[in-house]
Amino acid sequence: MAEQAVDEGRRRFLTVTTAVVGAGGAAAAAVPFLASLLPSERAQAAGAPVTVDVSRLEAGGILREQWRGRPVWIVRRTPEQLAALEGLNSRLRDPNSDVTDQQPAYARNLHRSIKPEFLVLVGICTHLGCSPLFEPEIRPQPFASDWKGGFFCPCHGSTFDMAGRVFAGVPAPANLAVPPYRFDDEQRITIGLDPEQGAA
Ligand code: FES
Repeated sequence: MAEQAVDEGRRRFLTVTTAVVGAGGAAAAAVPFLASLLPSERAQAAGAPVTVDVSRLEAGGILREQWRGRPVWIVRRTPEQLAALEGLNSRLRDPNSDVTDQQPAYARNLHRSIKPEFLVLVGICTHLGCSPLFEPEIRPQPFASDWKGGFFCPCHGSTFDMAGRVFAGVPAPANLAVPPYRFDDEQRITIGLDPEQGAA
């Protein structure tokens, strides 16, 4: 009996010791990881602007980036996708972006962008924060028989067009957000800076 009590005590001691060593090990492992980040990576983690080369983005494609811990998408729209935008206005909740303030002033237009070809969006559904799926093809979809390309949120079925504008009659209350961004030149977009250079 006494022997068993000793064993129990020893086991508890070992468990506590292991837990403490484990926590210490995790802390020790975290420091080299943070220290290993380059200065630019540390700044980026803290919310610094992010510059993206869009020359590799094909028409109809999407680039997925991170800015301030949030997903940001850059989409290069085709002429067909752009042409379809105007005909959708009557089916949208806020086609002219004047109900909710979801974009900088320079993106408050039909395309919700600086250049019609390039769309920049925060990839978070305005309903409850899921990440919508990119569905760029103009063709009937299970969720919309007259689909002109856009984004579909699988969580509760919200749909957004190729400008991130929300359709009427879905749970999402607002268009997808456009973050501040600017073109540095023809090939590079910086997310987190306005065209006038000021930091967001
Ligand atoms: S979170 Fe997207 S529809 Fe609910």
